[in-house]
Amino acid sequence: MISVSLRDRLRLPLVAAPMLTVSGPDVVAAACSAGVIGAFPTANCRSVDELDDWLGLLDGKLDAAHAPIAANLIVHRSNRRLEADLEVLVRRRCELVITSVGSPAGVVDDLHGAGTTVWSDVATIRHAERAIEAGADGLILLTAGAGGQTGAMNPFAFVREVRRRYAGTVVLAGGIGDGASLAAARVLGADLGYAGTRFLATRESLAAPEYKAMVTAATSGDIVLTDAVTGLPASFLRATLPEGDAESAGFDVATTLAGANGGRRSRWQDAWSAGHVTGVVDDVPTVAELVDRLALEYAAAGGPA
Ligand SMILES: Cc1cc2nc3c(=O)[nH]c(=O)nc-3n(C[C@H](O)[C@H](O)[C@H](O)COP(=O)(O)O)c2cc1C
Repeated sequence: MISVSLRDRLRLPLVAAPMLTVSGPDVVAAACSAGVIGAFPTANCRSVDELDDWLGLLDGKLDAAHAPIAANLIVHRSNRRLEADLEVLVRRRCELVITSVGSPAGVVDDLHGAGTTVWSDVATIRHAERAIEAGADGLILLTAGAGGQTGAMNPFAFVREVRRRYAGTVVLAGGIGDGASLAAARVLGADLGYAGTRFLATRESLAAPEYKAMVTAATSGDIVLTDAVTGLPASFLRATLPEGDAESAGFDVATTLAGANGGRRSRWQDAWSAGHVTGVVDDVPTVAELVDRLALEYAAAGGPA
């Protein structure tokens, strides 16, 4: 369930999902102006001060009627900037925070105190139970074939199982590349869809032109799931994976990001992440063009209002 006030601010029940090294202020502002929630990982900011600047910049760029901005906070213990980023989000009373890679238990109280809505991404039913216990206001269900870190759950089974026990906001992540898949997610019982790879291939995203070209040329057969890059299972374009690098050393934010924000290339920059949905992504429109098209397709597929 989402509130009527949130529904009224959205043209489509959709989140332009946060993507490491890909989502910057331009794609977020374009998404929010077009009527879908625009999200970015706080880790994409080089420093805590830059996070503060981005939030200020976005506030200035957007008019009062825009769809919400969501900041994505990696809550894994290896995130050394967690407390400092949290302090900025609380001080700026960020409307929506999405936690990932761990339970939101350690941040929910501070965020709720600032009036922030907290959604937590989860890849298993156990993760979902822990996030509900911690007081999350919404769950983002990461399903098989989603871009970035993901899980192995079947989306049909996962949404229906969660819906049996949870009346809060449910967001489905993985495989949403057109309006028909978004309509299907709503019919299934999700309140919103969460699309990453589709927004990676937009003009405003920070992905390199060669990366966007590879996503538009690829099929789902070019995507592999491996924990060898970040220590957690994540989806990558096979051609960008280092050969023979098969051993997982465990997840660590610093190792994943090393070099990402200045100078040396990082593991995340060398291996390019994308989901199964690459098979239906074959162009690089502006975000506004994409949202217009998704809205037409959503209506044609009978997507619920
Ligand atoms: C390049 C890339 C980077 C991502 N980085 C993040 C991230 O930093 N934080 C996060 O919570 N999810 C991240 N994700 C996952 C997305 O937020 C979202 O769950 C996923 O893209 C949905 O599946 P889809 O790609 O099939 O649309 C990333 C996905 C991609 C493709």
